[in-house]
Amino acid sequence: MDFGPQYTQLIARRVRDSRVYCEIFPHDVTPDALRARNVVGLILSGGPASVYEEGAPQIDAALLDGSLPVLGICYGMQLMAHLLGGEVVPEGLREYGPATVRLTDRAGIFEGLAESERAWMSHGDSVRRLPSGFAAIATSDRLPIAAMSDGTSRFGVQFHVEVMHTPHGAEVLRNFLLRVCGCTGDWTPAAFVEEAVAELQRTIGDRSAICALSGGVDSAVAAALVARAIGDRLTCVFIDTGLMRLGEAEQVIATFGPRLRLVPVDASERFLSKLAGVEDPEQKRKIIGTEFIRCFEAEAARIGPIDVIVHGTIYPDVIESKSRDSKTSVKIKTHHNVGGLPEDMTLENVEPLRRLFKDEVRRVGAELGIPEDILGRHPFPGPGLAVRVIGAIDQTSLDTLRAADAIFLEELRAAGEYGNVAQAFAVLTTVRSVGVMGDFRTYGSLVALRAVTTEDFMTADWARLPYDLLARVSARIVNEVPAVNRVVYDISSKPPATIEWE
Ligand code: XMP
Repeated sequence: MDFGPQYTQLIARRVRDSRVYCEIFPHDVTPDALRARNVVGLILSGGPASVYEEGAPQIDAALLDGSLPVLGICYGMQLMAHLLGGEVVPEGLREYGPATVRLTDRAGIFEGLAESERAWMSHGDSVRRLPSGFAAIATSDRLPIAAMSDGTSRFGVQFHVEVMHTPHGAEVLRNFLLRVCGCTGDWTPAAFVEEAVAELQRTIGDRSAICALSGGVDSAVAAALVARAIGDRLTCVFIDTGLMRLGEAEQVIATFGPRLRLVPVDASERFLSKLAGVEDPEQKRKIIGTEFIRCFEAEAARIGPIDVIVHGTIYPDVIESKSRDSKTSVKIKTHHNVGGLPEDMTLENVEPLRRLFKDEVRRVGAELGIPEDILGRHPFPGPGLAVRVIGAIDQTSLDTLRAADAIFLEELRAAGEYGNVAQAFAVLTTVRSVGVMGDFRTYGSLVALRAVTTEDFMTADWARLPYDLLARVSARIVNEVPAVNRVVYDISSKPPATIEWE
């Protein structure tokens, strides 16, 4: 249960690592709604609030009556203590950082752990008096109650078991899931495929479906899964916007053509002519979004009666759009393929991956036989190279960028660095600079290389690529791409920069 989004996602990830299925619920979910989902245990996340604060997030206290196993983490533990009649106090000074906890009862969630364990603390309040029926099961230098338990099914830990800085946190979670909740830990990609196929067959029945295949991992796996369920009644449309990387359109068609009922559409001229002279990034995105929908609708009409549209939405998209709905947030960029397709298309939406995290999508893809070179690819933005050629685009600038980008990716792969970065690409800037080649003065374009490491793409750091690799890439680009005479490496983190330049 969610009291702070950044904690919850991490906890959900760790639970899934134990091969146990979990979902994130808002804290005000009703006990009936949880019962309807056959919930076997609850984890209450940490969060920034203090239990006595006005408007602090609450839960229905009936959930804590002991009939369902509960693990409260940080704020979750404090809320449990508070609702069950214990006392929570402000610490005065916030405790943030590593601590040593002594585990005084090593049964239940602490089974198999050492007497003394390192743990990560981040809290302003703590539990001073336990609710009746509870005992302290861990202490630290600062906290007489660093963890608590009722001896059977209800546990609380003041430290964060979900973070890497608590080295045996994963074991604590696994103990809770397997020993306390009685989960079996058998939620594997194969089990997911089997369940998802059966459910897709039930929901789609004998109707027909359509899917926009982008060449990205999510839409590829969603399409393969639905095709496994309904075979040729799924038609996949691949729209080549002319904004793909070198050889990408050919690769998608060669990979999926033989496996799926695939309709490739070469719409590159149409996109390029609509984008001619357009410099503003948001304007480019808007045009591409609209054209994409138009093309897709035209193909759908040609294919014939269709009832269902398949989307490659994954769990972080769902969580993100929920938190977007509930909070006012400033729009940084329009991500046209997150919001979805036309509202006036009366098609039923099917999102078979909406409960999966990215690496789970990859594992499901492998289970479905999708080749590794598709599954291991970095994400690629819907508007493609249009947001990587700065300012107005045309065929020549796209070709220049494609050539530079292909060299960068080829060298990254050859150096074994491709898998170490989350995203890497070249950007063609509008800057022109003076250079010298042989005996001649040149006046050419500036290409920027961008490579980032990130877990969630919300924040990112620039990748510390080896200098030798950067040197090779730079030399090859200026030698092999005639329009370019200078290469720079982008060393900005996100924030304050974004990953893409536009
Ligand atoms: P930014 O540039 O916002 O990028 O830091 C974060 C992630 O989103 C991708 N991105 C997009 N994806 N449509 C997309 O589908 C878009 O318009 C778009 N803009 C950025 C970007 O490649 C990175 O993975």
